[in-house]
Order: sequence, then C-alpha cells, then structure tokens
Amino acid sequence: MKFPSNFLWGGALAANQCEGAWDVDGRGLSVQDVQAFKPNVDQKNLKAHTSVTLEGLKQAALETDTTYYPKRHGIDFYHHYEEDLDLFQEMGFKILRVSIAWTRLYPTGHETEANANGVEFYHRLFSAMKARGIEPMVTLHHYEMPLALAFEGNGWVSRNVIDMFLRFCETCFREYGQYVKYWMGFNEIDSCGRHPFTSAGIIPELSTEGMDQACYQALHHQFVASALATKMLHEMVPGAMMGCMLTKLTCYPYTCEPMDALATQKRNLENLSYTDVLVFGEYPKMILRDLEKRNIKIAMEPGDLEVIKQYTCDYVSFSYYMSMTESVSPDAPRTPGNTVLGVKNPYLKSSEWGWQTDPVGLRYSLIEMYDRYKKPIFVVENGLGARDKVEEDGSIHDEYRIEYFRRHFEEMAKAIDDGVEMLGYTSWGPIDIISASGNQMSKRYGFIYVDQDDLGNGTLQRSRKDSFYWYKKVIETNGEEL
Ligand code: BG6
Repeated sequence: MKFPSNFLWGGALAANQCEGAWDVDGRGLSVQDVQAFKPNVDQKNLKAHTSVTLEGLKQAALETDTTYYPKRHGIDFYHHYEEDLDLFQEMGFKILRVSIAWTRLYPTGHETEANANGVEFYHRLFSAMKARGIEPMVTLHHYEMPLALAFEGNGWVSRNVIDMFLRFCETCFREYGQYVKYWMGFNEIDSCGRHPFTSAGIIPELSTEGMDQACYQALHHQFVASALATKMLHEMVPGAMMGCMLTKLTCYPYTCEPMDALATQKRNLENLSYTDVLVFGEYPKMILRDLEKRNIKIAMEPGDLEVIKQYTCDYVSFSYYMSMTESVSPDAPRTPGNTVLGVKNPYLKSSEWGWQTDPVGLRYSLIEMYDRYKKPIFVVENGLGARDKVEEDGSIHDEYRIEYFRRHFEEMAKAIDDGVEMLGYTSWGPIDIISASGNQMSKRYGFIYVDQDDLGNGTLQRSRKDSFYWYKKVIETNGEEL
C-alpha cells in the first residue's frame, strides 16, 4: 500500500447535520430546520423523504419543538466542538471538512452586514482546528440555505440568490481565508433533480413551469455562482483552491445487452455532466440537446457562459458510497442508493438502507474521474451507514465498518498505483451525526459514537468505537496497515 507522504487523511461533516444550536446567537431558519424525521416511514421509501409541500413547510417553520426536526439539535457540535476536535486529533486527522451555515452569517440572506456572533463562531472553530494541527476544508453550500429565500423566490430558481450567496462567500473568504486553503462551492451539485428542496430551496407549488424547468434554472444559477465564487476566491485568497463536488453514482450495465449498455451510458453521462460544466467550463452539447428535446429553456444573462468558461475549479472532489446497475427491463429488481434508485447488482451486498457496497467501484470511479478531468482528486465522502450496538461495558465492535473502509482503502491505493493523483480522503461523518436523507440518528457513520436516539434522547456523550483505533492506525502508518 503506498499513499503519498503528504496524503490528507481526515473526515467530513456538514453544519446542518452536526451543529444544532438552530436558534442560537442570531442564526436564521434554514431549509434543513423544516426537514422532519418520520418514524413510521419505510426508510427505503425515497419519495416519502423528498416530498415537500408549501403548507407543510410553513407549518414546520412555526414549530418550535426539535424532537421531529433533528437537524435543529444535531449532535450539538456547536457547543461540543472542542471535545470533538480533541478526538479527531487523537485519531491523527490531517484535515476536517466542515460546512459554514449560511444562516449563521446571514439569517435570511438579505442582510447587508454579517451576523457578528456567527462570524465569531467559525473563527473559534477554525482556530481550534489549527491549534490541533488539523487543516480545515470548507464547503460553502452543503444542502443548506436560508428558508426565507425558498419561500420568497423558490430558492435558487431566483437569479437574486446569486448576489446574496456571493455576499456570504465574500465574508467567508475575508474572514476565514487565513485558515482555509481547500474550498468547495456546492455539495453534490448534481443533486438538485433528486432532492430539489434541500439542494436548492425549490418548492413544487412555486415551480409553475414544472420541476424540471425549475431545477435546471436553479442549477444554472449555481454554476454561475460557483464560477464567480472561484474568481472571488482567487482574487481574495492567493493560493487557495476551489473544488467541485459530485455525487459519484457509478453505474454498470445490468447485462451486456446493448440496450442496457446504452441506458447505463446515458445515466453515467448525465452524472458526469455537472462536473463537466465546472471543470471544462461548458455545458456538454448532448445535455443541451437533451434539454431542448425536453423543452427545458434555461434563462441566461449575457456573459454567463463566458464566466462559466473562465473560472473553472482547481481540483475535483466527489462522494462515493455505492454503485448501481441499469437495465431497460421493467422487471429488473431495484434498490435505493444515495437518494437514487438503481438496479440491484447480484455481485454486491447492500447495507440495511439498500446501498450497495462496492469498493472496486471506488477504484473504477477514481480512474474514470482522473482520466476525464486530469485534475487532482479528493474523495470527500465515503462510509457505511449502519446501526451500532453498545455493549454493556460501553464498547462498540463495528467490524463491519472497519471492513468497509479497509476494502475501500485497498482499492484507493490500487488507483493511486494506477497513476491517479489524489490529494486526500475524508470519511463521511467521522462522528455520528444526523442522516441527510432519513433525518435520523440511528444511521451511523462514525468512528466516534454519540449517545442520542432518533428522537433526540440521550446524554450526547461521545465514545470511541473499535473503528476509531483502527482508523488511527491507518493514519499513523499512512495506509500501510489496514
Ligand atoms: C451525501 C451527503 O450524499 O451522503 C451527506 O453529502 C450525507 O450530507 C451522506 O449525509 C450520507 O447520506 P445519509 O442520507 O445516509 O446521511
């Protein structure tokens, strides 16, 4: 196993899934604060998780209880971050990916001055990381925007949001540029079509021209915003790098029947088209043709395409959890993945949530991405969501998680040996946090256990799982001992 000597090992979090403190120090309501945990909903039912109604959102916004809105309390990282960083330091983390909550700095998005308490919190957080020798990596938009902007203008469908977002970016670069080298614009920018509300604040009833039209319009604004944020970062923070972030949904043909291969190709090209825009600075011609055929018309302003072309990203990052297959047969058995339905692969095992574990798919994805983009790669999310059992003596034997990571690291090392240039790796949720899709606590990814159940009961006490000691060793030996 050979990883580069400066390989950045670490973990990744998102503000809305860990911070909590939703109504503290002047923070505004975000789209995540109205995402409910639904105990009786089948966790594999994707529709139940992504459906939103205007009335439901308005009701939820008035609700003050946090029991069924777990992202409001998270794991209270806002008040526990020192203790959590101590544990990350103990594991030897070189880097920690976090996101900055837009609503902590600009509660409704409209303010012209940033909220001083919010600004101060991230100063404390980044200084605390630096003091522990942990490099901060920052996502500017991780499934989170002011709720006010969703109600007013249907989120990113409205062009005005670009300027408000850039005001937020400017504050982030000015305040935190001194600590942060690696930045990222939009988490999983491809996800707008899969969960439009959390990705882009889009509400079906406000999307009078249809959801597809709304999503592509919002995406266009996100592409322009990404390019302008990259320009701003380069001007304000010399040496800083802006990455793009894709949900890598690697798909294989279910059979070698040519129609299955064609359907798979379509799916993969669609998945890659988002990073194509951000890396090559152009909409792929076939995607534009597809939109034309579907009668989707993106409203663009003069200069948009030039801006997208000129300010492309510096490195490529992606999340990778699972793979899937595609088939044209209506009878092919389907299984959920990362907010997506694919056809079951008979060669792979699934997690309890149906996500198909595929370490070789990581090697495949790394090769594919590096070959296509020829830019250094950062795997910024990867991991296994599982239920953990706490033994009577408090220990947690998560051998299944160790096995998942071990096999993925082996494949990552092989990809590096194949010639892929990698900057680093951050596992998803190195400490248990609230799940993005299910709004639940029991789907755990961490090396560190947090004592809290789905309804927010628990002491919030942190404890080390077996995987904690294992990952510590991996980092210590730079991946030599897996
Ligand atoms: C990624 C998201 O797609 O998947 C994270 O960027 C999310 O926010 C992660 O938590 C795992 O998904 P889930 O639904 O199991 O939390």
